[in-house]
Amino acid sequence: MSAKPTVVVTRRLPDAVESELSRDFDAKLNRDDTPLGAEGLKDALTNADAVLCTVTDKLTAEVLDADPLRARLLANFGVGFNHIDVEAAKQRGLAVSNTPDVLTDATADIAMTLLLMITRRTGEGERHLRAGQWTGWRPTHMLGTQVSGKTLGLVGFGRIARAVAQRAHGGFGMKILYHDPFPPPPDVSKALGAESRDSLEAMLGESDFVSLHCPATTETRHLMNADRLGQMRPHAYLVNTARGDVVDEAALVDALKAKKIAGAGLDVFEKEPQVTEALKTMEQVVLLPHLGSATTETRVAMGMRALENLRLFFAGKPLRDKVA
Ligand code: DGY
Repeated sequence: MSAKPTVVVTRRLPDAVESELSRDFDAKLNRDDTPLGAEGLKDALTNADAVLCTVTDKLTAEVLDADPLRARLLANFGVGFNHIDVEAAKQRGLAVSNTPDVLTDATADIAMTLLLMITRRTGEGERHLRAGQWTGWRPTHMLGTQVSGKTLGLVGFGRIARAVAQRAHGGFGMKILYHDPFPPPPDVSKALGAESRDSLEAMLGESDFVSLHCPATTETRHLMNADRLGQMRPHAYLVNTARGDVVDEAALVDALKAKKIAGAGLDVFEKEPQVTEALKTMEQVVLLPHLGSATTETRVAMGMRALENLRLFFAGKPLRDKVA
């Protein structure tokens, strides 16, 4: 028997991370990258000391009820942990960690990418060109919307939102508004040229673009529902790099069809990897396959951060990124 703790790694990870995992732990790697599913996860919980999981692993109360439970840590590869029933984990004595900080820049970059893609119609333009429909430059061809100098409303003002504010304000001269029930000290907002709005509705009504940066919780589920989408301005665009659950996808389709908003840039969806069919048919929508943290640098850094939590835990030290 190996003296090293056994860690089930639920998905393929960058090579550098897998080799460190294999060096320091009895790591059970997922070479073919097939999601484990509920039964595979239960198996992992009963046969390993820790599970290094990702957003694609639904660690529900039912799964966490695995018996006899051997695992003591869920080291999540990712900052968001709405796929883990944290209360159920706690009740079973399982610690939970995540990987904040290291994906802030990559995710803020994707929010800006979506904002620019949707306002400058780049997805639509590329489809047009590849389909051989481009007949040449003309002054009225595919006109988009300028972002520079406009107003960006941020829902939530945590790390990623602030990195978006920095890019949008510093790089594009945008006015930044935000709504966050736990606002940062005034000097943080001031440094980013950002103004707080106590009411989400007021912020939606003032913004040319709205970008979502709140966690997925029971309180934020369908935060952007028909009413709130209706409070956005008809020329405004919605960007979501947070979690699909924060937007009522059916209400979004209705709002787009009724031209209550001008368009949406989405990196996350309610039922990933399924995407509402109607969205795929709309030119005023940009759809990305959950690419927020998808750079080599970031994915390696996320893996190393999960490793750090694993090492600390099995050395009997406090987790660096304790969720529970
Ligand atoms: C995150 O880190 O939350 C990413 O969305 C992947 O889970």
